[in-house]
Amino acid sequence: MARTPSVGGNWKMNTDRTTGPALARDLAPAAAANPGCEVAVFVPFPYLLAVGEALGHGSSPRGTRVRLGAQDCYFAPDGAYTGEVSIHMLKDCGVSVVLTGHSERRHVLGETDQLVNAKTRAVLDADLECVLCIGETLDQRQAGRTDAVNEARLRAGLAGVTAEQMAHVTIAYEPVWAIGTGKVATPADAQTAHARCRAVLAEMFDSAVADATRIIYGGSMKPTNAAELLAEPDIDGGLIGGASLKAADFLAIVEAAGEQT
Ligand code: 13P
Repeated sequence: MARTPSVGGNWKMNTDRTTGPALARDLAPAAAANPGCEVAVFVPFPYLLAVGEALGHGSSPRGTRVRLGAQDCYFAPDGAYTGEVSIHMLKDCGVSVVLTGHSERRHVLGETDQLVNAKTRAVLDADLECVLCIGETLDQRQAGRTDAVNEARLRAGLAGVTAEQMAHVTIAYEPVWAIGTGKVATPADAQTAHARCRAVLAEMFDSAVADATRIIYGGSMKPTNAAELLAEPDIDGGLIGGASLKAADFLAIVEAAGEQT
């Protein structure tokens, strides 16, 4: 089935009060010119409101196609959780899509599959879109455990999620060894991993859910390698780190994804 490609810019802990909104202003019109691709930016918490405004959210709800995304959330609705940000707060700032389980949160900040699952379910229960990130480390790949790790991440991350809720889930396959390293998975390796993830989704839900769910690739995707990755049948877009911080590079990837439709 035809899946609309999706490209997200994960700004990570980059940009500031000036450069974040400026980048958003550069992206909005060009993204609107590529209707074949859904576009989101995942913005540091302090700049969500300013970036939302720069994207035209609020003033002209239908005037922009770039969705405002958050890089993380906490699953509890409110309470004594110093430093955390609730999904209600994110919604209040105009966020419509949230990343869960990014490898930097798993491997730098120690998030477990259980916590990732609680966040994923809370995002979906709040009627927001969720991008669940999975991917193997270099050690795991070299030990031949790529498929087993990704299957475990999918099964744990999506535990308790219904088939109906899967309409609001995108999977981001981000091999940890390719993130920020300049090492990109070959299109064939990425395709193999994506196809395997789709087969796991078919086992967990059914083939209709598996066919409809977007599985996007992340890990050193840039304008020079995007088209060949995106040409693979099971690669439905990208989650872009470094290259999303330059409007021209990010938009070149958006364009490459739009051309696949
Ligand atoms: P890079 O594109 O910088 O490798 O980052 C990928 C990523 O982690 C996106 O979430």
